[in-house]
Amino acid sequence: MTTSLKGNDILHGNQFLKKDIDAILKTASYFEKALKRKDQIPLLKGKILATLFYEPSTRTRLSFETAMQRLGGGVVSMGSVESSSVAKGESLTDTVRTVAQYADIIVIRHPKTGSAKEAADAVPIPVLNAGDGAGQHPTQALLDIYTIKKELGSLNNLKIALAGDLKNGRTVHALVEVLSLFGAKLYLVSPDILRMPEEITSRLRGKGMEVTETTDLKQACQNSDLVYMTRIQKERFTDLSEYEKLKGSYVINEDFLKQLNKKIVILHPLPRVDEISPAVDEYSGAAYFRQVRNGVYVRMALLAMVMGKTVKT
Ligand code: NCD
Repeated sequence: MTTSLKGNDILHGNQFLKKDIDAILKTASYFEKALKRKDQIPLLKGKILATLFYEPSTRTRLSFETAMQRLGGGVVSMGSVESSSVAKGESLTDTVRTVAQYADIIVIRHPKTGSAKEAADAVPIPVLNAGDGAGQHPTQALLDIYTIKKELGSLNNLKIALAGDLKNGRTVHALVEVLSLFGAKLYLVSPDILRMPEEITSRLRGKGMEVTETTDLKQACQNSDLVYMTRIQKERFTDLSEYEKLKGSYVINEDFLKQLNKKIVILHPLPRVDEISPAVDEYSGAAYFRQVRNGVYVRMALLAMVMGKTVKT
């Protein structure tokens, strides 16, 4: 369990205590205000972040790199797998051991579940999990919780629907762990074969959370203040015809919103395929691009905190 982030890895949504989350959210909020004032924040001047992405990424990598540069630090990046020695067959451990000779922090995304932990165990510097296969994506969960708090005003008595590929979606796997600290009421909406792993739902229930599994997105949204949409994770399917059958299972469009007799906040970790139609972007509850922006503040907080920097919040 984490009590201070200094020198720590960030690997799993269940590693945090409530007071860690409070400290992260406060620090992120401090950086949000500082950036809005256009302050210079050279807290990590002279430090280097290495980003190792073995899977595609737009937001996670660029927001980490932005966050590090906003804090005055430098960034080195492995670029694509094809352009690095990974293409020659270098092991994950050898690659991270090498990178640890250059950098002060490593951010890693890899297709194998458990790979971030494997990397963290191989090096003495902090390793931040930016997605390990269908496993976890804890830094996304933290920016999600920051966004939920901003959009809904509080983290107490939450009613949240999570919809889409709950089996393979690492963002939801990490987010529910963090939400479990706040006792939210959850509606898990998915096609039957893409349900949240039982191991996770039973842990949530064990912590006293009220968890309803359903295939009905409309009903779940009627009962929720916020819906977290996710993409069906095509890259995790071994049988692509299965994917073809399931894609498009849940779509939020203007018609869907009209049928709800209430306002709902919509989040999505992005990228979207067809889960939210672009026309919905104009709706005031569509918060997914605000969510993207929050990623920078939260990742600034995480980088500063693992490097042992504190700010007056
Ligand atoms: C997610 C991911 O990579 O898990 N993207 C992200 O980090 N914002 C979601 C996804 O790919 O569907």
